[in-house]
Order: sequence, then structure tokens, then C-alpha cells
Amino acid sequence: MADIVSSEEEIKEVQEQLVTPWEVEAKDGGKIDYNKLIKEFGCQKVEPEMVARVEKLTGKPAHPFLRRGVFFAHREFDKILDAFEKGDKFYLYTGRGPSSESLHFGHLVPFMFTKYLQDAFKVPLVIQLTDDEKFLWKNIKLEETRRLARENAKDIIACGFDINRTFIFSDFDYVGGEFYRNMVRIAKCVTLNQVKSIFGFVNEDHIGKVMFPPVQAAPSFPTSFPQIFGDEKKSKKIRCLIPCAIDQDPYFRMTRDVAPRIGFQKPALIESLFFPALQGESGKMSASNPNSAIYVTDTPKQIKLKVNKYAFSGGRDTAEEQRQFGANIEVDVSIKYLSFFENDDEELERIKQEYKTGKLLTGEVKKLLIDVLTKMVEGHRQARAAVTEEMVDAFMAVRPLPGMFD
Ligand code: TRP
Repeated sequence: MADIVSSEEEIKEVQEQLVTPWEVEAKDGGKIDYNKLIKEFGCQKVEPEMVARVEKLTGKPAHPFLRRGVFFAHREFDKILDAFEKGDKFYLYTGRGPSSESLHFGHLVPFMFTKYLQDAFKVPLVIQLTDDEKFLWKNIKLEETRRLARENAKDIIACGFDINRTFIFSDFDYVGGEFYRNMVRIAKCVTLNQVKSIFGFVNEDHIGKVMFPPVQAAPSFPTSFPQIFGDEKKSKKIRCLIPCAIDQDPYFRMTRDVAPRIGFQKPALIESLFFPALQGESGKMSASNPNSAIYVTDTPKQIKLKVNKYAFSGGRDTAEEQRQFGANIEVDVSIKYLSFFENDDEELERIKQEYKTGKLLTGEVKKLLIDVLTKMVEGHRQARAAVTEEMVDAFMAVRPLPGMFD
């Protein structure tokens, strides 16, 4: 179990700054230490040479999320690039736990990046909606999680995925057949002790939680999708790349450990930072506080109000002081958000420089951010309005994906 955190010492370290799929907490309310997280989890850093290699192989500029270190960690992404270079096939797998009616910008980050990867590498994609996970973990009725899954599918489709290369599925509807056979193979390789140490489960937890990890692991194996990849002989060699936020790493540590024991390749991962809450960078956004995030359904008025009122500022208290001393852009949330969503590198650099040196005031930077977010929300609103029930059915239909590698 080389990949899995298991020694007591390591567990203690992880507990100082807690990152599990359900909880993200920095030490003493400070910032998440991502370098430490990489070390503890045992992933690799995405280095600039890797980004350059992606650009070379795809013939396209790298996504800003890759250039700017938002997707900062990986496991065997280099092997995916090797495979692609040789003409070997791979597919993408990502997912969403449907726990809320609408998505916020933090939720959109992995999907925006996955869309870029799908376009750049021209590969098939499976998207898992873990309605079962949210039923098990949250206080939501089962039927409600199914409804939310469908609603969330519309927001995901609005990100622009190619219907000829994308399969979206709800666990409640899709689990069975080859997918279930893989789940059971996986489950047989993982002990109760291991899931307790990987996920922090305790004896009082219900067994639904213990049962779930194989559900999220199974899409990492191509034979879980025979309608897409064909029978076992044809599909087993196809590699899987999982773009996700780094809190999902425990699931895939488990999956990678099991994979060779049941005759599969380990899935590769490319993992992102957490998207900070408006109030600052101590963790990820909380669904229970609507003022901690900008939602894709927020009106321009709400966006303006939230940014102006809540976005943590690294600027000085008065305009005079700001002009004289400049802002601390390391802690400034508007700058953080602009680093995610201002696509123009030069413009971003200009804003940072001028804010740092006091030429720009907090209010002016916030205004720039409000403009960027308002445009994005408006674009998303239009794209989502164009998603019909028939389109959702089409993306979610169990079917081959014609031209998936063209
Ligand atoms: N557990 C994830 C969540 O709660 C959903 C998910 C399922 C996922 N499979 C995934 C996320 C693969 C990233 C990659 O949101």
C-alpha cells in the first residue's frame, strides 16, 4: 500500500491540516499549505516543462489554469502525455456530487479545465454524478438528489462539452453490469482498516459510507463503459486521466493502489487548488453560506454587492495609504479570482503591478473583477438556457460515442 497514507505519524501530520473529500481545514485558520499536501499525499508538482510539453503536443496554448498553476499537482500525467505522443488512447473522467441547486465558480473550475482538455486532446469523457454519495452524506431525500443531478447536468453541459465525446451518468441510474462488476472487484481489495485510514471513517459511521468509495473508483477503469470502449480485450489498455480538485485524491489513491491487482492501469490525475471563499483563503467555499461564493445564478446586482461587501482585500485602509504603500496582493481575494478568470496574461500582470504599487485602489480592482464575473455569468446563463431536456437525455443516454477519438 505504498500510495496510501498509513503510518501513525503521517496520519497525525494530515490531521494538522485536514483535507478529505468532505472537509477542508487549514491549520489554525490559516492558508492551506499545498506543498505539504503534495508531500503528504505523495503526488508530483506540475512543472513548467510539463506545461510546455502539453502546448507542444496539442499545438495549442495551455489553459490559463495550467499556465498559472491552478492545476498544480499530478500523478503520472507524464505517462498520459507519453501515451498521447505515441498515439495510444486515453479518456477523461471527472464528476460532481449534486448537493445544491446551482453551481458556484469553484464548482465550474474542474469542468472548464476538463472542457479544455477534451478539446485540446480530442478524447472521450465520462462525467459521474454522485447522487448516491450526496444521499449518503447529506441530509437530502433520495429523490431530491436525483433531481439535483439532472439540474446540475444542465450547468455542466452549458460548459460546452462535445456530445459526440461525452457521457454523463447518474450513479442511481447507471450502476450495474460491468460497472458493478468492477466495483465489487475493487471492494474485495480494500480492507475496513484501509478505508478508515484513507477517509477517516469511524466505527459509528453507517456502512453506506464504507460502501461508496468503489462507486467513485469504478469509472477509472474503461471496462466500466463497454458501450463506449468495447469489450475487455479492446478497452483494457486505454488509460484514464482524472482532472479534479485535490480533495478527491483519497479516492484515487485507493483506486491506484487496487488497479494493478485487478489487472488495470492506474488512473492518472491532474489536481487543482481549492477555489477560495470570498472571505479569504483558509479553505474551500461553504455551501451553507451563500455569501461565501459567487453562483452562476447570481444577478449582476448580487455579484456587485458580494464582491464589494465580502471579497477580502489586501489593500490599505485609506486611499492615501494605498497610494503610498500599495496592496498585499498575496491575500487579496479579488486578485486571486482575477488570476483564475482574467484570461489576458498581460492585463492580469498590469493589474497586479499597479495594485501592488498603489496606482490602483481596492475599489478599482473590485470593479475589474465584477466586470469579468458578470460577463462569465451572463455567458453561462445564456448557454444554460439553451440546454433542453432532450439534450440532457442525449448526454445521459447509454450509447457508443461516435468519433470519440477523431
Ligand atoms: N465526489 C465528488 C464530489 O463530491 C464527485 C466526483 C465523482 C468526482 N467522481 C469524481 C470529482 C471524479 C472529480 C473526479 O463533488
